[in-house]
Amino acid sequence: MTVERMLPTDEAYELLGLTKEIADGELAPRVAKYEQEGLFPRDVLRTVGRAGLLGLPYPEADGGAGQPYEVYLQVLEILAGSWLGIAEAVSVHTLSCYPISAYGSERQRKSLPELLGGDLLGAYCLSEPQGGSDAAALTTRAVRDGDDWVVTGTKAWITHGGRADFYNVFCRTGGPGPAGISCLVADADTPGILPQTPEKTMGLRSSPPAQMVFDDARVPLDRLVGAEGEGFRIAMQALDAGRLGIAACAVGLAQAAVDYAAGYARERIQFGRAIAEFQGVGFILADMATQVSAARALLLNAARLKDAGRPFTVEAAKAKLFATDVAMRVTTDAIQVLGGAGYVSDHPVERWFREAKVLQIVEGTNQIQRLVISRSLTRG
Ligand code: CAA
Repeated sequence: MTVERMLPTDEAYELLGLTKEIADGELAPRVAKYEQEGLFPRDVLRTVGRAGLLGLPYPEADGGAGQPYEVYLQVLEILAGSWLGIAEAVSVHTLSCYPISAYGSERQRKSLPELLGGDLLGAYCLSEPQGGSDAAALTTRAVRDGDDWVVTGTKAWITHGGRADFYNVFCRTGGPGPAGISCLVADADTPGILPQTPEKTMGLRSSPPAQMVFDDARVPLDRLVGAEGEGFRIAMQALDAGRLGIAACAVGLAQAAVDYAAGYARERIQFGRAIAEFQGVGFILADMATQVSAARALLLNAARLKDAGRPFTVEAAKAKLFATDVAMRVTTDAIQVLGGAGYVSDHPVERWFREAKVLQIVEGTNQIQRLVISRSLTRG
């Protein structure tokens, strides 16, 4: 089914058209093999990057495409409808460019055209084995020594771990709590940055996360982004925007599940008619489609607040919470519509179901989103 969209410019319609061409021509033919065999799609990401999709919401003056978030997120949605792994990669790369774009020194900002240009891939290292939801408790330490920070510790669940060209590393340069955290951006080839064996995941097997060990990794002092002690704020602001990216991935995945289930229900004959004609199936499809539209509306509302420079932290948390829960429900229902066929890998819905699960967890579990929302209601 074609989704009716209201986009702000003709250019945005063209961009979404181009994205659909890439999704149909480059992503759709490859996704099943790459996901089944666990092949990291570096080549596909280069194609996506060279089409300009790895720097969409950043200013043109910095080498980005100057697109509003509202448009960028709908591009992500289309990519996710073909291949969640690629959409997630674009979202995480975009997240990883935020610290330098928003807080970088003049010198650091000179690297932006390269970061946004499409050939490089970024990663964002906040979580640790002992500190996921409680990000302010992180223990990776950076100590000044001569012209360098010497970084020691372990980061966990790092998307693009071992694949990225640069790493945002949130580490402790001061005392306990959020005020002691700083942000460094390190090149992947820095000695002492040691990617570990990728995790064996339930879904998104083309791009499994990995732990990253920092073993006395020497990062030049001038790779500190923002001021010392400003890292937690930078991390949280980056995640506010990143969570919108994850929500967009969820909407794209869920829309694909609605379309696939509806197509199957139109073709599948039981008791002499297409199963779509039975109300028991048609109403499931109607509820699936309605939930996806509601998730998209919530997402675009948050994006428009961000584009207008208004506070959007809480609306982003609501969008991430709602859209990823919708993706889980809708992909579950899609399997039900397909029946036994939904449970086997001849159809993509069982993969979408496995992939939806991680969206309820990454970039802040949905329990953390509820915490952000409830605090906004109850704290003065
Ligand atoms: N924007 C700006 N500043 C913010 C902020 C935001 N959204 N949220 C908090 N802050 C500031 C607060 O204002 C406060 O500043 P002051 O001390 O100056 O008042 C400071 O940060 C501390 O805030 P809190 O007291 O709210 O901090 P907290 O310890 O209670 O934690 C939290 C808040 C929301 C639970 C946060 O820890 C959180 O989001 N946790 C989840 C982390 C997460 O999402 N991890 C996933 C990372 S993804 C990854 O690593 C993998 C990958 O590949 C992408």
